[in-house]
Amino acid sequence: MEVIIQPDSQQASWLAARLIKKIIQEKPNAVLGLATGNTPLQLYKFLIKMHREEGLDFSQVRTFNLDEYVGLSPDHPASFHHYMWTNLFQHINIKPENVHIPDGLASDIPGYCQKYEEEIKAAGGIDIQILGLGTNGHIGFNEPSSSLSSRTRIKTLTDQTRKNNAVFFGGEENVPYHAITMGIGTILEARICLLMAFGRKKARAIAMAVEGPVTAMVPASALQLHPKAIILLDREAASELKNVDYYHWVYEHKPDWQKF
Ligand code: GLP
Repeated sequence: MEVIIQPDSQQASWLAARLIKKIIQEKPNAVLGLATGNTPLQLYKFLIKMHREEGLDFSQVRTFNLDEYVGLSPDHPASFHHYMWTNLFQHINIKPENVHIPDGLASDIPGYCQKYEEEIKAAGGIDIQILGLGTNGHIGFNEPSSSLSSRTRIKTLTDQTRKNNAVFFGGEENVPYHAITMGIGTILEARICLLMAFGRKKARAIAMAVEGPVTAMVPASALQLHPKAIILLDREAASELKNVDYYHWVYEHKPDWQKF
């Protein structure tokens, strides 16, 4: 794992945007795995800026989102479809047919999830998967106790996750109980996993995921098994890590060819 600690979320997001830009420049039809939530918002703003000001070209880029609530139509304001179009896709030159977000209204959910997996394979796999982190250590909507080899499927949200997301639904009573999410096994197949976490409230989950044991009780800890996992943090999210000096040391001595 490569743990990169930046002074604040802006600088961390800028680094993430630079990495994605590099990947798209090297492979114009790169496959991006995308996430929602507050964490990647600044990253998406930087990508839009790079598109507008530096001509970053998304015309061949393909995307697969991690998850979507079950029962929400794409135009529901709290749906991840709505989030992705509002915060990124409508501002860049991506082709709608190259965008994939799980369909919360799918009638045959197991069949649909199987198809989603096949579409990822048919695209040649995900080049970089962006991940946020739940305060309980979840990635996507893989809640604690999710199988570390799980594939795309329906999951039941925890009470905590529903509370954390209540603000987007105008009250907890409106938050769906279920979501479709890529599995942890699906996520681990991405060539690069980039987990971003900002703020004090993520510090505990980060410490458990990065320096604790690999356990289904902390789904993000599965990234310890990934050959190229980057954990990108601000100072607050890194505040419960023990090995901070070493992570800074590694970053300062990164060979030029590894920099982004
Ligand atoms: C939701 C999403 C996750 C996201 C997490 C953290 O549960 N399913 O993909 O990482 O929230 O959200 P935030 O970035 O807003 O803290």
